[in-house]
Amino acid sequence: FNVPEPVNEPILSYAPGTKERAALKAALAEARATQLDIPMYIGSEKVYTDNKGTVVPPHDHQHVLATYNIGSKQHIEQAIDAALAAKSAWEKMSWENRAAIFLKAADLIAGKYRYKLNAATMLGQSKNAYQAEIDSACEIIDFLRFNVSYMSEIYSQQPPVSPRGSWNRVEQRPLEGFVFALTPFNFTAIAGNLPSCVAMMGNVVVWKPADTQVYAANVLMEIFREAGVPDGVINLIYVDGPEAGSVIFNHPDFAGIHFTGSTAVFQEIWKTIGTNIHKYKTYPRIVGETGGKDFILVHQSADIAAAATAIVRGAFEYQGQKCSAASRVYVAESIWPQVKELMLKDLSTMKMGPTEDFSNFINAVINERSFDKLARYIDAAKTDAGVEVIAGGNYDKSVGYFVEPTVLVVQDPKYTTMCEELFGPVLTVYVYADAEFESILKVIDETSVYALTGAVLSQDRYAVEQATYALRNAAGNFYINDKCTGAVVGQQPFGGARGSGTNDKAGSMINLLRWVSPRTIKETF
Ligand code: ALA
Repeated sequence: FNVPEPVNEPILSYAPGTKERAALKAALAEARATQLDIPMYIGSEKVYTDNKGTVVPPHDHQHVLATYNIGSKQHIEQAIDAALAAKSAWEKMSWENRAAIFLKAADLIAGKYRYKLNAATMLGQSKNAYQAEIDSACEIIDFLRFNVSYMSEIYSQQPPVSPRGSWNRVEQRPLEGFVFALTPFNFTAIAGNLPSCVAMMGNVVVWKPADTQVYAANVLMEIFREAGVPDGVINLIYVDGPEAGSVIFNHPDFAGIHFTGSTAVFQEIWKTIGTNIHKYKTYPRIVGETGGKDFILVHQSADIAAAATAIVRGAFEYQGQKCSAASRVYVAESIWPQVKELMLKDLSTMKMGPTEDFSNFINAVINERSFDKLARYIDAAKTDAGVEVIAGGNYDKSVGYFVEPTVLVVQDPKYTTMCEELFGPVLTVYVYADAEFESILKVIDETSVYALTGAVLSQDRYAVEQATYALRNAAGNFYINDKCTGAVVGQQPFGGARGSGTNDKAGSMINLLRWVSPRTIKETF
């Protein structure tokens, strides 16, 4: 099939004096100056209700960016009805026409709406300009363009053999029913990808973003509509999660869930789906990316500067709120003093503050619940025996939810913060004796309840080989001599197993195949 060959969207730098920096600043100012009342999108309707939520930048409690309209049970039912009503025309549309819509959406984001979407992510989710650019510009554009190319491959794959007198073929049908997309706050790209890749394969979608992602979700939805996604194909609702679940998971036409969020919520959803399994017309597809407790392992042979950079960037970009963020580090004793020195030097240059000041590397964490949780862990670390706080340790929520990048060094490799998911800028380091490399591999594997990302830094090829094998189930994305964040669509398909999800690799053919149900047709002549 002749679809445009995808290439990764180039990253804009937003360096001082560039025109993109001026354009992004203007978009931020415009967003701040505009008071939006964000509707739900159900079928052809923009829906407003009397129940209003507010969007407040996590780094600035004083400013209400927008209100949004919260729906009830009736809106969830209407969204399902609208999706089902749109289904027949949508699935009959040729895949090339569906592809064209999503390629146009990618172009709209790359051009006309790049700064608006980045500004929405910066303000609504407290991401700095660079982190916004790699997420709400490059990654979502890549998802859309690469998925179209995977889609064309899926539709072109046919059984290789049809003996004379027959013709065997496989038809990739959309799922029978509607799909529920639940998206997290931490990546606008995920918000864009979860509903769009499902819809691309001919399905209809009810989409509920996290309430901390409403602002960017609204911009994405407007882009999808302008690109030509027909009414009802993607329905965007802001509703209570359990209420949405009680309607959606009881519906006979529920055909699948595309989820990114917490392990606990995903497990509850899975249980509910299991309990209701007899109610559905078909076994629903359950695709989820959930928690993480991602590691970096530094061998005694590692390049010291590269290790320090990988640790600091891997742990603290976007305040450690990437599902891929490093939150536990195991470092060889002989090189720890030098690694530590470079880490502390790097950290000392990192400014913390609002996203609108582009010199701030660290912005706020997403909300009060997250802030309070991080504060509790930091306070415990300050008093627990065997724990040393070597950087950060302060937090303040008077202006926004600011938590300093914090580094703990522990004597017990199974200390709470080495095992539990914190989802914030708190990194825990365990220093192991060089000779204990093999036993530390065991400890990492045993404590990997989650298995999303991990990295080994080593210039010793035997150590690389040992770690790659011993940790084969401890990370779905494994990096050798790099940080454990920053998977690029088309380069490193992303996802993990164990407590981290179903490992259906976002931005890959594996994922798109979950959204079709093949029919094999044999015709005899
Ligand atoms: N794709 C994102 C990363 O790898 C989650 O950091």
